[in-house]
Amino acid sequence: MVTNVTAMTTADYLALEEKYGAHNYHPIPVVLTKGNGIYLWDIEGKRYVDFLSGYSAVNQGHCHPRIIQALIEQAQKLTLTSRAFHNDLLGEYAQYITEYFGYDKVLPMNTGVEGGETAVKLARRWGYVNKGIEDNKAKILFAENNFWGRTMSAISSSTDPSSYRKFGPFMPGFELVPYDNLEALEQAIQDKNVAAFMVEPIQGEAGVVVPADGYLQGVRQLCNKYNVLFIADEIQTGLARTGKMLACDHEYVRPDILILGKALSGGVLPVSAVLADDEVMMNIKPGEHGSTYGGNPLACKVAMVALQVLKDENMAENAAAMGEILRTELQNLQSPFITTIRGRGLLNAIVIKHPNKEAAWDLCMQLKENGLLAKPTHGDKIRFAPPLIINEQQIKEAVEIIGRSLAILE
Ligand SMILES: Cc1ncc(COP(=O)(O)O)c(C=O)c1O
Repeated sequence: MVTNVTAMTTADYLALEEKYGAHNYHPIPVVLTKGNGIYLWDIEGKRYVDFLSGYSAVNQGHCHPRIIQALIEQAQKLTLTSRAFHNDLLGEYAQYITEYFGYDKVLPMNTGVEGGETAVKLARRWGYVNKGIEDNKAKILFAENNFWGRTMSAISSSTDPSSYRKFGPFMPGFELVPYDNLEALEQAIQDKNVAAFMVEPIQGEAGVVVPADGYLQGVRQLCNKYNVLFIADEIQTGLARTGKMLACDHEYVRPDILILGKALSGGVLPVSAVLADDEVMMNIKPGEHGSTYGGNPLACKVAMVALQVLKDENMAENAAAMGEILRTELQNLQSPFITTIRGRGLLNAIVIKHPNKEAAWDLCMQLKENGLLAKPTHGDKIRFAPPLIINEQQIKEAVEIIGRSLAILE
């Protein structure tokens, strides 16, 4: 047992995790102990600008006072009943979130990947009941380079060996098409056994890959034409991150199944949700799907406040405006090491070009030294996704840190 916690150094914390925790992550070596708004503090009292936002779970900013207040008040009253009984918040939450996004029904889950699993089950069931697909023949299409989590189903649709290697056998009935390619999608979607196409409106983990204008419209049209459900995984892109409440809103497209997670709780606890209309949702009968924690009163309360805060504080509008400034300021750095700056709203990435394969990691280490936290994805890409409450002055300070840190690559 650790007895003298106050005297522990960063190295001690790292060693403790290393010794007793599974080695399934490769974190930047910083030990955080406090967060507020766009800032994080490490155990030595050093302050950092958070440019990852817990992979876009903390859109509303760390420890948002209204969300934390709701959490505390509800935690003192009732946290979990299971769905064996009713609680006095699930109905209110279901009404709130379905009206917020304009769907008939919600199915509450916890983590993002459970939301994805739920969407896939809903789509298969709809395929059998509504589309008339022969039993056990339903197919779901996914885009190459997708990321939707770490369960067996999620990795069965992955094209990333570090996700799926030596974890087989895999889930049958999943097929892949290239992302941002409507011709390939039309080829695959014609198969009468296809029940759904599940896609991220912008591929987050792949390195913030923004499809061509019109892609989402095209997906919608193909799904209509071939009677296939359009499942939008908005777990990372949703909830004001890209400058609209949903990334699909940029193309005025309404998916048949919408998956939300991450910022649905403002980074306070795992809350995910799947939204759909009755034609899809009412195929699931009592006892056929669920989760002990799904729809718990603590999650319901927190999610309502987390969603309300996004609207009350105009976070989508701010994300749009600050994203423009961020990309312009990054461009102005004119760094020979940055080949690409891309993104929408405050979901952005840079691509690093450097003879050293570790350059993106080295840059993130230098950013940490200079007071900004970001993490590479897929080797050469670094995501820049601060909380949506960031202001212009803070963006400029952050880009100044990035500019200064790039010197490490010279
Ligand atoms: C687009 C997308 N879908 C699903 C997930 C999985 O969410 P979780 O880690 O909460 O299971 C993620 C996580 O990064 C994601 O980015």
